[in-house]
Amino acid sequence: MKVFVTGKLSQKAFDALSQFAEVDAYEADDPMGRADVEARLEGKDALVCILGDQVDAALFKLRPQLKLVANVAVGYNNINVADANQAGVLITNTPGVLDNATADLAFGLLLAAARRIVEGDRFVRQGLWTGWKRELMLGAELNGKTLGIVGMGRIGKAVAKRARAFGLNIIYTRDGDDKKTDDILKETFAATRVELHDLCRRSDFISVHCPLKKETHHLLGKAEFDLMQPHCVLVNSSRGAVIDEKALIDALEKKKIGSCGLDVFEQEPAVPKRLIALDNVVLVPHIGSATRETRAAMDELAVQGLIEAFSGQLPANAVNPESWEKFSAKLKTPASK
Ligand code: GLV
Repeated sequence: MKVFVTGKLSQKAFDALSQFAEVDAYEADDPMGRADVEARLEGKDALVCILGDQVDAALFKLRPQLKLVANVAVGYNNINVADANQAGVLITNTPGVLDNATADLAFGLLLAAARRIVEGDRFVRQGLWTGWKRELMLGAELNGKTLGIVGMGRIGKAVAKRARAFGLNIIYTRDGDDKKTDDILKETFAATRVELHDLCRRSDFISVHCPLKKETHHLLGKAEFDLMQPHCVLVNSSRGAVIDEKALIDALEKKKIGSCGLDVFEQEPAVPKRLIALDNVVLVPHIGSATRETRAAMDELAVQGLIEAFSGQLPANAVNPESWEKFSAKLKTPASK
């Protein structure tokens, strides 16, 4: 079988994949354009891609021999799953292996924004520091304050674990309504489930960890920012479009909220000039999972799922197991041009 990879895999993952399949990998540093992905996919049975690659009906139509797409990311909003189901293409993602790395980054952003670390760094580098001052760069203390976690899934829980060590009280929102999970979260993190608007009103810090889907697009917008406290620090390391970026900038400019730390943006890699102009924001280039260990683990999980699927076993990291039957039928079809 033939696989196209839209980026450089870690050595271990690449070796495992190469033993199983004929691998064509794009090795340049900059992300690929769509037309190049389409061209290189000719005759390939599987695609290993990153979150910037858009996968949809047009691609499946152009490359009908494609059977599996392994997204090397936990979020898969770049893939139209309904289109994949229609085409009988199995989709996998990389859940679980990036929880700690992403939670570390979210917490880093929270601390950086709350304690003005990046602003302080700029201040020192610009030679503006004239001496120790009682009121210089006062920030917010974490201990005893309330952290609102929007989306208490795997990554949300990893953030909660860190938050407890910093003395934060935790409130959260999440999908699903089983009481048992809420009881466990109460027992483990003394965390209380609340409605989103309640969370916005009560939180001193908010960290966003829900996936981007139709229901969470612009989940936080003007109405929510209007409810937040003027000192609230907002952190987003999920997907940019979970937040209405324009409304966020308005809220920051009008000091409706205190500050924010962003790893993700609505139109990556474009970052609005108005956001860049603000001192009370910390901006990083979508690096939530960017540790050497985690990136290697993501690659390995993606490759493992692919090998399992093409060996006839439904991988645990399939996001659309409903397409398994169609996928299995397609497996019997040899790759065509
Ligand atoms: C990164 O943003 C991911 O979804 O893995």
